[in-house]
Amino acid sequence: MPLVPMRQILDEAAKKGYGVPHFNVNNMEQAQAIMRGAEEVKSPVIMAASKGALKYSDMLFLRNIMNACIERYPKLPIALHLDHGTSVDICQTAINLGFSSVMMDGSLQEDGKTPRDFDSNIEVTREVVNFTHPLGITVEGELGCLGGIEDGIGSGQEKLTDPNKVKEFVEKTRVDALAVAIGTSHGAYKFKIRPDPDKNLLAMDIIRRIHELCPDLHMVMHGSSSVPQELIAQINKYGGAIPETYGVPLWAIQEGIKAGVRKVNVDTDLRLAVTATIRKYMKEHPNEFDPRKYLEPSREAMKQIIMERYIKFGSAGHAFDYKPMTLEDMKKFYENE
Ligand code: G3H
Ligand code: 13P
Ligand code: ZN
Repeated sequence: MPLVPMRQILDEAAKKGYGVPHFNVNNMEQAQAIMRGAEEVKSPVIMAASKGALKYSDMLFLRNIMNACIERYPKLPIALHLDHGTSVDICQTAINLGFSSVMMDGSLQEDGKTPRDFDSNIEVTREVVNFTHPLGITVEGELGCLGGIEDGIGSGQEKLTDPNKVKEFVEKTRVDALAVAIGTSHGAYKFKIRPDPDKNLLAMDIIRRIHELCPDLHMVMHGSSSVPQELIAQINKYGGAIPETYGVPLWAIQEGIKAGVRKVNVDTDLRLAVTATIRKYMKEHPNEFDPRKYLEPSREAMKQIIMERYIKFGSAGHAFDYKPMTLEDMKKFYENE
C-alpha cells in the first residue's frame, strides 16, 4: 500500500488542473530515481513498464523492483502501468503481475506497427475494459497513431486523432484515459528543427477541440520527451554521434495540460540522461570499472530530470492531497458508474 488505480491519480489531477508525468522503468536505478524524485517534491507516481521492459527484465525482476517501490515508499500514491499493450493477452499478463493500470493500444495491431481500424480498436479496447474494470484496474486507450518507429511502437505513418471520433470511442469503450496523436513520436528523433511557438509543429488545436467536446476526458500525450540539448551536447562531446534533433518543449506540454492533458509520457529523456552521464564518467575515469561508480551519478541525473518534470507539469506538492483508493474502492466506483 498504496498501490492506487491510475484513474484516481488522473481524476485528482483533473480537479486541480495539473498533469502527471508517466516515466518508463526498466531497471532498479530508474525506479529509484523516479521514487526519490517523487519523494523530494511530493508527487504522485505513474511508473510504467513496456512489453520490451518486461522482456528485458524477465518480468519477475521488474515486478519485484516495482513492488519494492511500493514497500519502500508506503505513503506516496503509486500507479503501476503497462505501456502500449497491443493485445488482450499482454494486458492480462500485466494484471497477473499486479499492475493497477494497463494501456490497450488498439491504434495498432499486435505487431505494434500496423494501424488498426476504428471499429476493431473499439472492439479490442472494450474487451480489455470489460475484464479490467470489475477488478478496479484503469485502462488507457489510444486513438490516432504516433509517427515514430525507432522503438518498435509506431506505424511510421502519423495519423492524427480526429476529435469528432473521440466521444464515440470513449462512450463505447469506457476507457479512463485516452492517448491522442498530435504530431509527437517516440524516441529522440522527433523534430529536425526547434519547435518554436510560431512553427506549429504540434496540433495543439486537436487537444483543445477534444477538451471542448469531452471536457471530462483525461488525455495522454505520448512521445513527450523534451530531448534536452545539453544532454545531446554532452553525449556528443564524449564520443556519441547523435544528429541534430529536438523534442517536445516543456511550454508545449504545459499548453496541453491547460487543455485537459493529465498524463505525459517520458522515457527517452531518462535514457539520454543515463547515456550522457556514463559517457562522461567513462571518459574522465578510464581506470574505473565498478559499475556503481557510474550508475550512481546516472541515477542522480535521471532524478534531476524527473523532479523538473514533476514540478513543470504541476504534480509536485500533490502527493498527499487525497486518501489513496484501493482497487476494491475503484471496483465499487465502476459498479456504480
Ligand atoms: O513507448 C515507448 C516507450 O519509450 C517504451 O520503449 O518499448 O523500447 O521499452 P521500449
Ligand atoms: P518518449 O520517447 O518521447 O520519451 O515517449 C515515451 C512514451 O510515449 C512512452 O509511452
Ligand atoms: Zn508511448
